[in-house]
Amino acid sequence: MEKPYRRRDLLGIRELSEAEIRGILDTAENFREINTREIKKVPTLRGKTVINLFFENSTRTRTSFELAAKRLSADAVNISVSSSSVSKGETLVDTALNLDAMDPDCIVVRHGSAGVPHQLAKVSRAAVVNAGDGSNEHPTQALLDAMTIREHKKKISGLEVAIVGDILHSRVARSNIHLLTKLGAKVRVAGPGTLVPRDFEFFIDAENKKSSESESADMRASVDAGRDSALQVCDHVEDAIDGADVVMILRIQRERQDSAYFPTLREYAVHYGLTNERLDLAKKDAIVLHPGPMNRGIEIASDVADSSRSLILDQVKYGVAVRMAVLYLATGGSTN
Ligand code: CP
Repeated sequence: MEKPYRRRDLLGIRELSEAEIRGILDTAENFREINTREIKKVPTLRGKTVINLFFENSTRTRTSFELAAKRLSADAVNISVSSSSVSKGETLVDTALNLDAMDPDCIVVRHGSAGVPHQLAKVSRAAVVNAGDGSNEHPTQALLDAMTIREHKKKISGLEVAIVGDILHSRVARSNIHLLTKLGAKVRVAGPGTLVPRDFEFFIDAENKKSSESESADMRASVDAGRDSALQVCDHVEDAIDGADVVMILRIQRERQDSAYFPTLREYAVHYGLTNERLDLAKKDAIVLHPGPMNRGIEIASDVADSSRSLILDQVKYGVAVRMAVLYLATGGSTN
């Protein structure tokens, strides 16, 4: 029998087993009901302290981690870079050591550079939760996406999921590719050629670690090897969306693009944006996800974003339950 989730830190989906992912999702299901009560508060984390350390802007992630902590009765402290001594030149490690000296139980960190949560976890006695590190991972986003899919499709295994847009810079895409393929979905990615990597080293490396020698040799060939492979790179957005159960649209991440990856936003909207015509290629009961913030009229048409097939606000709602589960598990709770 697979061990229950007993990790201290949540740094990425890549290192989690299928059983651990299911354990977090099941724990989130249990917490979900609390968010529907008139008094949305339970004493589960009374006496615990959670620090939200955000070096990048956030609406959804920071607010939902704060709400999650407060609904579990933990004390939550928010620190943003503009109000911290990082702006006076303090190093990241010194900031972490100083926060750690105040004995928090959990530090939730978002940073523009990949690997920062991993660095903090090495020096911190508190549990570290990755709230998004550069273009690397956004594990709680993938978990809340999975919770949304599970709620509406009752399963993840066997589903066909199209991820469309700026794959290259997207930590959401990386975490979702790991999670969805571990849980048995088939993922198809598409976007401008300049924004879709062809080699997917991060995925191949992770798969190779858990495969036997002979399976490892086949992994590179299996990416892009057609509809039966766990991960397929499509040349056209229409090919990715065709027959999909889930269409996940990614934001154009202009803040991470150091050069022009496509001529104009208008051309991006015409060639890659999700319109009702493109969505009609998906299964009739296909659902639409977007991690937010949305660029309406660019990667997604407003009438699609506001349609009954769009579960964008459900994603935000489930984000609170997922973050309650993650804080609970990071501070000593068990999926048992
Ligand atoms: N999806 C997401 O991470 O949104 P925020 O940047 O608002 O946290």
